[in-house]
Amino acid sequence: MIEKEKIKVIIDTDPGQDDAAAIMLALGSPELDVLGLTVVAGNVPLNLTTRNALMVCELSGRLDIKVFSGAKGPMTGPQVTAEHAHGKSGLDGPDIFEPSIQLEPQYAPDFIVETLLNERSKTVTLCPIGPLTNVALALEKNPTIATHIDKIVLMGGGYFAQGNITPSAEFNIFADPEAAKIVFSCGAPIVMMPLDVTHKVLTTRARIQQLASIGNPASEALVKMLTFYSRYNSKKFGNDGGPLHDPTTIAWLINPDLFKGKKCNVEIEIKSDLTRGSTVIDWWEVTNRPKNALVINEVDSDGFFELLTERVSNLK
Ligand code: BDR
Ligand code: CA
Repeated sequence: MIEKEKIKVIIDTDPGQDDAAAIMLALGSPELDVLGLTVVAGNVPLNLTTRNALMVCELSGRLDIKVFSGAKGPMTGPQVTAEHAHGKSGLDGPDIFEPSIQLEPQYAPDFIVETLLNERSKTVTLCPIGPLTNVALALEKNPTIATHIDKIVLMGGGYFAQGNITPSAEFNIFADPEAAKIVFSCGAPIVMMPLDVTHKVLTTRARIQQLASIGNPASEALVKMLTFYSRYNSKKFGNDGGPLHDPTTIAWLINPDLFKGKKCNVEIEIKSDLTRGSTVIDWWEVTNRPKNALVINEVDSDGFFELLTERVSNLK
């Protein structure tokens, strides 16, 4: 039997409890080769998102994963953070510790450029699950990398589900709309996980209990993270559990059949005071603008949680 080639991924992240779930899902999945985590400021400032990324690798028993720190804030405009959802540390829930893994010295956008130029063309997937600053900076440094990217599978935006940080904007896009504009117009194939789909992936009590039954260090920490995270989100959105946004990107890479969507044109609003950072999705094809993203809106959420539980149980 011919062995299938692993999917090479760079996860660009701002952990965040749901980022942690995404990283654990990736690290527990044999189909993926995680080339590195590139860290961006987002849910909390960069020093904390960087510490959190290292912590998640350590909790996952993966001291071999390379972690690179990147942009301290957006390309333009004021910095926005999300302690209201993630707590002061960004990863509230479990005990916070200083990780023993060393950060790589290279600047994250440089690592993205170098990797895309060094690896075989169209074999590396980018999974941005925070503000898009690092990816946009990499594209600005060397625009030719766009032609070497296999896919960009990102969490961000919303259409029918609108916004979660302003009435019309989702956090990752709102935190750096100029960067999002660069990414959505770069020409590389994009798969987009907007709030429309992530709000269907809820951390219900029953699902958290399933994760708790694994009983390894990663699952124990994840259960504490998601219990904290669910509290805020349940109150806000009135559901049993919170939307587990970021791991949908990794789950799509592993099993796209869990999802449904449609190719659309997506543009980013950067000017309006009221709707800055909103993703204008031409769902009904009322323009001739190019279809630059596969926009996902449906998910088999039980299948998604089965996958997450199975893969977190692979971690040591
Ligand atoms: C996105 O914003 C962050 O708070 C989450 O980690 C996720 O990436 C959801 O809007
Ligand atoms: Ca995130």
